[in-house]
Amino acid sequence: MLPFESILKQAREQCEAAADLPAIEQLRVQFLGKKGIVTELMKTMASLSPAERPLYGQQVNELKEAIQSLLQVKQEQLQAHAMNAALERDAVDTSLPGRNVGIGHLHPVTQTRLRIEGFFSSMGFDIVTGPEIEDEYHNFDALNVPPHHPARASHDTFYLEDGHLLRTHTSPVQIRYMKTHKPPFRMVAPGRVYRCDSDMTHTPMFHQLEALLVDDHSTFADLKGLLQTFLEAFFEQSVVLRLRPSYFPFTEPSAEVDIQCVKCQGEGCRTCSQSGWLEILGCGMVHPQVLNNVSIDSERYSGFAIGIGIDRLAMLRYEIPDLRLLFENDIRFLKQF
Ligand code: PHE
Repeated sequence: MLPFESILKQAREQCEAAADLPAIEQLRVQFLGKKGIVTELMKTMASLSPAERPLYGQQVNELKEAIQSLLQVKQEQLQAHAMNAALERDAVDTSLPGRNVGIGHLHPVTQTRLRIEGFFSSMGFDIVTGPEIEDEYHNFDALNVPPHHPARASHDTFYLEDGHLLRTHTSPVQIRYMKTHKPPFRMVAPGRVYRCDSDMTHTPMFHQLEALLVDDHSTFADLKGLLQTFLEAFFEQSVVLRLRPSYFPFTEPSAEVDIQCVKCQGEGCRTCSQSGWLEILGCGMVHPQVLNNVSIDSERYSGFAIGIGIDRLAMLRYEIPDLRLLFENDIRFLKQF
C-alpha cells in the first residue's frame, strides 16, 4: 500500500476511535503538528528531484486536507454529542407544577390597626404619627403629669440618656399635634409604646391608638356616641357600653370603658374572666391645663381624647388568649389570620 494511503487509513481509524475532544487534539498534533507525520513528509520533498516534486507536493497536500477534514468532522460530532448530553442532563420538566412562593399577609395587629384607622378616617380624623423616642416634656409634663407624680412612676418607663425615654403611651402625639394645628381638629395617632412590664397580658412593647378631637362645642355625650359607633363598627355587632369613672392626669373627667362581653353577651366566660365585661379603653375630656400648655384657649375650646389598646382589640376580635403570641413571629400562629 502507498504510504499516503496507509497514513490516511491510520488517521481514519484513530479518528473513529477518538472518544473525546482532547483525543482529537492529540491526533492533530500527531499528524499535522510541527513534528507530525504529514509535516515530516513535507520536509522530505527537498530530497526529491524537481520533476518529482509537484506530484509529491500535491499528494501530501491532499493527504493533509483529508486528515484535516476527518478531524473536523469528528470534532463536530463530539461537540454535538457533548451538547446533547448536557441538554439531557439539565433537562427541565416543564410539565411539573411551579414552586409556590409564599407572599405572606399583614400581621393581625396591623390588620386591626388598619381597621380602626379606617373607621376614624371615615369620620374625618387625620391619621398622624409621632416619635417613639420621646422627651419627658411631651410624654409627661405637657400632659399634666408633674415630676414626682405617682402616675409617672406607674408607667414603668424605659429611660434613655439626657432626658429621653421610650414613650409610654401615644398621648405625647396629642401635644405635638395641638402645638402645630389650630382647632377645630380631629386626629388619630397609632403606634408602638413601651413599658417595662411582661406577663400574659403585658409585653414591653405594645400598640396604642390615640384619638383626639378639639372644637368649641364637644361634650362627653359626643365622646360616648363616638365610642358606641366605633365599637359597634369594629365588632360588627351591637355592644353594651359601661363607663366607669377613672383618673388620667391629662383628662377631666376621665373614664374607663367596658363593653359587655362580645363572646358570651354578659353571661360570663373565659374571655371576660366570668365577669361579663371587657375593659376596652381609657378616655376623657381634655384637661384645661393641657390645652393651656399648648396655647389653646380652654375657655373657648374643649375636646376629648381616647386611648385604645390595639393589641387588646386584636386579641378580642381574633380570640387570641395570650398577648405574647402576637410578638413571637411564629409562622404557624400567624398563618391563621
Ligand atoms: N394615655 C393613656 C394610657 O396609656 C390612655 C388614655 C389616652 C387615657 C387618652 C385617656 C385619654 O394609659
